[in-house]
Amino acid sequence: MSTNDEAKKSLIQLLPDISVFDNPKPEGLLQRVLHIATNPGDLVLDSFAGSGTTGAVAHKMGRRWIMVELGEHCHTHIVPRLQKVIDGQDPGGVTQSTGWQGGGGFRYYELAPTLLSTDRWGNLVINPEYDAAMLAAAMCKLEGFTYAPSEVLWWQQGCSSERDFIYVTTQTLSAEQLEALSNEVGEERSLLVCCAAYRGVTATQAAERWPNLTIKKIPKMVKDRCEWGHDDYSLNVANLPMAQKPAAEGAAQDDLFGGDAP
Ligand SMILES: C[S@@+](CC[C@H](N)C(=O)[O-])C[C@H]1O[C@@H](n2cnc3c(N)ncnc32)[C@H](O)[C@@H]1O
Repeated sequence: MSTNDEAKKSLIQLLPDISVFDNPKPEGLLQRVLHIATNPGDLVLDSFAGSGTTGAVAHKMGRRWIMVELGEHCHTHIVPRLQKVIDGQDPGGVTQSTGWQGGGGFRYYELAPTLLSTDRWGNLVINPEYDAAMLAAAMCKLEGFTYAPSEVLWWQQGCSSERDFIYVTTQTLSAEQLEALSNEVGEERSLLVCCAAYRGVTATQAAERWPNLTIKKIPKMVKDRCEWGHDDYSLNVANLPMAQKPAAEGAAQDDLFGGDAP
């Protein structure tokens, strides 16, 4: 069984440009643990990924893995390390004993800041860190729309089909504004309006008066999308979106907010 010291040397060789953790776990130790506890193809979760030893060993052992990391190690250690494992450029650790030669891939997601926060009175509000574009992108994600702001029509910020669109605003909309919106949308299209609030009509009146609009209030609709009060919050990994291209090529996600993912 390898030691912490050997693990450290091996990691320094693999990632010479970064400062290595003081006591990285030896791959041999993780190999033993995973051998006892898992089978090939199983999912191994390391929610405190650190330098990524658990994921690297799981990968070499033919297990699937999910790693979560709060710190910068994700960019500095984990992604470059797993990239080398995949490229067959990591000769250290359990590479020999597993007969690992490279292959596979991964997807890489960056979590957005929390969408809701509480104000000083304890009310749920939209996190002030979100600008208008981030908010629109997040609401599209939650409601199953593709974020695609139109350059021509200000109220088309995303779509779910050729005729169904979403508009997100932090404003309180008046009945007059909703009327104007409904007229712009017309009979052939429909629009999900996500706003802070609306005034001048009840929900029932709004539905009758503007059948092409569905109006939702933002903090509440976000809350409705969250799951509360379950005994079992098991992650349904079967429903993860599939990658469009082999993750080994670079593995960055389509950025949720339209910029380049790191
Ligand atoms: C000692 S390392 C874990 C080593 C790792 N399990 C391995 O296989 O090499 C602990 C890591 O947990 C991370 N961490 C701490 N709190 C966290 C949190 N709430 N969510 C995600 N990562 C967290 C730290 O940044 C640190 O990198």
